[in-house]
Amino acid sequence: MSDIAGLLDKPEFPRSSRYDPVWMLQNQMGPNALWLAEWLTEAVPLQAGRRVLDLGCGRAMTSIFMDREFGARGWEVDWWIAPDSNRRRVLEAGVADSVFPLRAEAHALPLSAGFFDVIVSWTPTGGRMLELYDRGRVAGLAAAESHGRGCSGRRADRRIAP
Ligand SMILES: C[S@@+](CC[C@H](N)C(=O)[O-])C[C@H]1O[C@@H](n2cnc3c(N)ncnc32)[C@H](O)[C@@H]1O
Repeated sequence: MSDIAGLLDKPEFPRSSRYDPVWMLQNQMGPNALWLAEWLTEAVPLQAGRRVLDLGCGRAMTSIFMDREFGARGWEVDWWIAPDSNRRRVLEAGVADSVFPLRAEAHALPLSAGFFDVIVSWTPTGGRMLELYDRGRVAGLAAAESHGRGCSGRRADRRIAP
């Protein structure tokens, strides 16, 4: 295990390095979502209390990361992953009062686009999902579109709307 922990401990991702490597591996759905989250959030105006929509959140790691690292309140939305399992992860992470798991299809969300301060996505189709939202009504709109093993600028596209 210590070899794996060493592989996951990257100087370019100091925040991610503080997370349990077993938890990180158990909840991956492809590329390392924590590395992608750390990389994308460098460019997103996340501040304490901001309302963040995490589209296609998968197993909730990115919403947990945004809450712990920035104090952001997260509505995490996914179509495949049952909200009960995400709720369990959120409870275990101690952020259940500020991270809210929902099962929904991105095009059918019941919340107004104007409700959110920041909308982010870490999925191969993230950029397209962001096109659902009016850029004038959110402070930050960003997606990391990972391809295969994407975890850095050379292996993923970072799309930031002004
Ligand atoms: C490759 S996984 C990535 C999950 C997570 N963002 C991560 O980085 O670990 C893609 C996720 O996007 C979700 N997804 C794709 N299209 C979606 C849509 N239109 N609405 C809601 N979720 C969607 C899927 O359910 C899936 O869990």
